[in-house]
Amino acid sequence: MSSDNSSSQPGHLYLVGVGPGDPELMTYKAVRILTKARVWAVPTAKENGLSSAQQIAGQMVPDNDRTILSLCFPMKKVFLGQETDDQLLQAWRKSADEVIKHLDRGEDVAFPTLGDATLYSTAFYLLAMIQEQRPQVPVTVVPGITAMAACAASQASPLALGDDVLAVVPAAFEDDRLRGILTNLDAVVLMKVHRRIDALIDLLEELRLTDCAVLTERSGMPGERVYTDIREARGRKLHYFSTMVIRKKKVQVSNGTIEIAA
Ligand SMILES: C[S@@+](CC[C@H](N)C(=O)[O-])C[C@H]1O[C@@H](n2cnc3c(N)ncnc32)[C@H](O)[C@@H]1O
Repeated sequence: MSSDNSSSQPGHLYLVGVGPGDPELMTYKAVRILTKARVWAVPTAKENGLSSAQQIAGQMVPDNDRTILSLCFPMKKVFLGQETDDQLLQAWRKSADEVIKHLDRGEDVAFPTLGDATLYSTAFYLLAMIQEQRPQVPVTVVPGITAMAACAASQASPLALGDDVLAVVPAAFEDDRLRGILTNLDAVVLMKVHRRIDALIDLLEELRLTDCAVLTERSGMPGERVYTDIREARGRKLHYFSTMVIRKKKVQVSNGTIEIAA
């Protein structure tokens, strides 16, 4: 753990959503902040692995002339309220220490993260670890376009309309609540579906929802694939970047009024 040798003016920490893949979906603000920050802390899933967030950001902002801190966050499940995996805690702490070194020198650090920082992003575990040691560090969160927004947009479909209730579910967890959510809510986004696709298709078939679902793999990235018939995804080894959007109601105009077609 680093000691508190912070300068009177610590650097500013920016958590920057860079959108789900298509670099044109980065906001002006994300581009401006990433251009200004001389230090980027980039998340990777493996030691010395590539960072998807950096790859997206790098298409809009040259990254070869700045300091890149490659921070490895192992892909492990986090159960909030339960004891955190030791390997994860160590990785978060190590990453926080790396970032703090630069903040203490008064350098601004930007953390580009896939989609939006506020939705299932490691950014907030890192932030908590940094704030534990440096509560005075100024922080700005730059919102980004979420993967679910891009997936719905590619189908020219809303995520929610009118009195719809929308749920967002991390489907990697075997969660008894999923059946109830799918039964009771109007629209559901399933994230992290890649390892559970067959079980999810079974459940959707049983609930007669298969035809309401669209699965998007690698939205806005090379190799993007959209399954409008999700049965075709059965048995496939999907990429981690796969999201399913389920909408029960379709909107149509009939005799000049908006109607819901079930
Ligand atoms: C750790 S979460 C990150 C979510 C991200 N912060 C957001 O705002 O969308 C990872 C999950 O996001 C979804 N995801 C991220 N990028 C995606 C993409 N390009 N295409 C489809 N799904 C994506 C997948 O469900 C993936 O398992």
